[in-house]
Amino acid sequence: MTRTDKQQEIVEMFDHISSTYDRLNRILSFGVDRSWRRKGCLEAFKIFGKPCGTLLDVASGTGDLMLFWRKASCRLNLPIDRAICIDPSAKMLDIARKKVKDAEFLQHRATDIPLENAAADLISISYGIRNVIEIDRAIGEFYRLLRPGGVLLILEFMNHKKQTLSDRAVSLYLFKILPAIGRLFSRDRRAYAYLPASIERFLTAEELCEKLKKNGFEIAQVKDETFGVSTRFIARKPL
Ligand SMILES: C[S@@+](CC[C@H](N)C(=O)[O-])C[C@H]1O[C@@H](n2cnc3c(N)ncnc32)[C@H](O)[C@@H]1O
Repeated sequence: MTRTDKQQEIVEMFDHISSTYDRLNRILSFGVDRSWRRKGCLEAFKIFGKPCGTLLDVASGTGDLMLFWRKASCRLNLPIDRAICIDPSAKMLDIARKKVKDAEFLQHRATDIPLENAAADLISISYGIRNVIEIDRAIGEFYRLLRPGGVLLILEFMNHKKQTLSDRAVSLYLFKILPAIGRLFSRDRRAYAYLPASIERFLTAEELCEKLKKNGFEIAQVKDETFGVSTRFIARKPL
């Protein structure tokens, strides 16, 4: 299978699970994903530290993160002028359109976003970068799209190669319990087997930081949440 076919298959899988995606997210994370998202947007916005001209939420899916960006903007009293949700899955975006009222929507992949250089102040990608086959190309695209001083927020389930006791507990949950619950609620065996497999194939936090640095970013913050189930990366394009 070529990279293009593999990427297409992943996007079709998200089209297929779009209707149960939000409910399952809440069940599978026991609602804790809300706190990961809330803290991610707040911390990134604080690091950016001024009003945002354009915000891009890449791999936006059903638009949850954008809701948290709006809350962070209110809380910090830093307005966002233009907000754009970007995702290649038409069905995930259809749900986002109903939930997020004050945004634009673009059906595109992270690797080729049709916006000019330095168009964005803030870019986010939550639980999306693991699904991008050409990850270096996507990071390069984020760098191109950010203004100097702009901030990138990544939330992701990382591969923990060195297994501590808490990593083993997390693995038990991700590899055994989560796929079983996912199958039950979404009736899509493949999609919820894909999640742990994609984490196992994915980068460690150190490897992702290396890629970000190699592409010109400065690392501002790396923080594990909930025993390392989710990791937050905040990186800045130098001035
Ligand atoms: C696990 S969902 C995350 C959605 C949302 N960001 C969230 O936090 O709930 C992954 C999303 O990545 C999107 N995706 C898959 N391949 C992509 C690519 N190459 N570029 C951008 N998004 C992609 C999928 O369509 C899906 O909506």
